[in-house]
Amino acid sequence: MQLAILGTGNVGAPVGRLWAAAGHSVFFGSRSPEKHAALIESAGPNVSVKRPEEAIRSADVVLEALPFHAVATLPTHALRGKILISASNYFPVRDGNIDLQGLSQTSWVARQHPGSRVVKAFSMIGGNVLNRYANGAAEEGLVMFISADDQEAKAVVEPLVRDTKLVPLDVGDLEDSRIYQSLEGPLFDARLRIDEAKAEVAKLLKKDR
Ligand SMILES: NC(=O)c1ccc[n+]([C@@H]2O[C@H](COP(=O)([O-])OP(=O)(O)OC[C@H]3O[C@@H](n4cnc5c(N)ncnc54)[C@H](OP(=O)(O)O)[C@@H]3O)[C@@H](O)[C@H]2O)c1
Repeated sequence: MQLAILGTGNVGAPVGRLWAAAGHSVFFGSRSPEKHAALIESAGPNVSVKRPEEAIRSADVVLEALPFHAVATLPTHALRGKILISASNYFPVRDGNIDLQGLSQTSWVARQHPGSRVVKAFSMIGGNVLNRYANGAAEEGLVMFISADDQEAKAVVEPLVRDTKLVPLDVGDLEDSRIYQSLEGPLFDARLRIDEAKAEVAKLLKKDR
């Protein structure tokens, strides 16, 4: 697939390396494309770096791995119709005070970009773990939670999670993703195998409803 990754940091860089190794074409979107020669070198021939809007336009699926406050500045018109994977987490110390209007963080992201098909993924496992995976040292069976209101978009993203050697687990819609979002989610940063993860998710979602 043609995949864009916005953000070249702890999350974007290793996911891009893993997707490229799985055979995808990866277009990083950076504010400073000229600064990323080393990333291109480490990620191989399937990878290039462009300006963010150009990367979005080149891709079928876009991963945003940006500071949460920066997500609202993305070009909504370019994202329309695209699957937007949202990895960002809200931290007021870094992002300032943002009124989420009572929404989960990723529902708020979806509200910023009407017409994009938002899927929350790659948000709850540390960049250090992702980097180990990209360096060939995957821990077998670690689960990555994934949520979306759009079931078809979720079905497209699940194999992209598997391509990074993580195990996707469907955690319902974007409001359900509160159980693993930053600040309040008991499963934020959880490192679980599939059986334990399913049990924890079922327990928490039952309590929420
Ligand atoms: N680190 C983790 O363990 C981890 C795990 C899961 C999720 N997350 C979440 O995923 C998101 C990305 O985390 P990260 O650790 O990869 O962040 P990071 O290392 O700081 O990288 C963020 C990237 O975003 C780009 N960017 C675009 N607009 C920006 C702006 N206004 N200010 C700063 N950077 C901007 C930068 O790339 P260019 O300069 O090339 O444009 C930068 O490399 C965050 O929301 C974080 O909370 C982090």
